[in-house]
Amino acid sequence: MTVPINPPVDETIAQAAAALKGGFLVGMPTETVYGLAGDATSDVAVARIFAAKGRPRFNPLIIHVADADEAAALAEVSPRAAALMARFWPGPLTLVLPRRADCPISLLASAGLDTVALRCPDHAVARALIRAAGRPLAAPSANPSGRLSPTCAADVAEAFTRDQVALVIDGGAAPVGVESTIVGLFGDGAVMLRPGGLPRAAIETVTGPLQDAGHADADAPQSPGRLLSHYAPRLPVRLNATSVAPDEALLGFGGSLPAGALVSLNLSPAGDLAEAAAHLFAMLRQLDRSGAKGIAVMPIPGDGLGEAIRDRLGRAAAPRGAAA
Ligand code: TXA
Ligand code: MG
Repeated sequence: MTVPINPPVDETIAQAAAALKGGFLVGMPTETVYGLAGDATSDVAVARIFAAKGRPRFNPLIIHVADADEAAALAEVSPRAAALMARFWPGPLTLVLPRRADCPISLLASAGLDTVALRCPDHAVARALIRAAGRPLAAPSANPSGRLSPTCAADVAEAFTRDQVALVIDGGAAPVGVESTIVGLFGDGAVMLRPGGLPRAAIETVTGPLQDAGHADADAPQSPGRLLSHYAPRLPVRLNATSVAPDEALLGFGGSLPAGALVSLNLSPAGDLAEAAAHLFAMLRQLDRSGAKGIAVMPIPGDGLGEAIRDRLGRAAAPRGAAA
């Protein structure tokens, strides 16, 4: 049986909240990508998320809260963490913080770490759902582990069965299009664990220069989910293409595209990185179905949201099965 897609009306929110309270999973729109949401305090619900995604158990989940007060009930919120929340929540910023001793989040959700990743989504449906469920929601991106992230309700419904997901709430296309930026606050350090929908420069106005995950203090917990091959279409991906073969699909950027591809899509004809991020996963999905032998991607600038776009494309192009 296929997964129903429902409009985001009060009745749907109530139905979805009831499913979540029963330990079942719901496809939830957020501003970044769609999430596969479950009760973060329930080991059963969290185990269902790992099983549905085929996700390795060592890779912890992001916990979604309705506001900063809810976050303070789960994690130790330092003044610096509070400043980041005040400035950027709700929004595409996830903070990895020490778990409070009385934190009710399933240990399975944090993969046994003594930290918890918290995010307050800037999406009316997501926040209404968290409030109606009355508990924090664990929600990884709603895609099978390693594959392209979902940016619309149909992507989610297509990827799972009715046994895995009770329903998907249709909040339209995800406006940001790439996952949240993850920052770890460990001791005095602020570490960029995953570039994402909130640009590095904005965060650094509060934290000062962020450390890179690779160069951070060896004792600091890192983001175990940074698998090298991830966000992958079925077709091979070739980066920084300046020309294209007749049997390749082209993912372009900016005003002038090389001619001769089997099929071409443009992330942003105007060269706008926010527009490119919003189109990234949907266009990769479309080109993946084009019948081409591979996807050639033009160079993308690295500033602003370009850091997150390059990160996702680099993983899409990495040798499959590779882990870092
Ligand atoms: O935008 C987003 O963040 C989306 C939407 C649905 O909210 N969610 C998302 O979740 O991207 P997911 O599960 O696909 O990515 C979670 C990332 C993984 O790389 C994981 O390793 C990291 O967060 N993570 C979770 N808990 C962590 C922790 N305690 N310490 C370090 N990294 C953590
Ligand atoms: Mg993901």
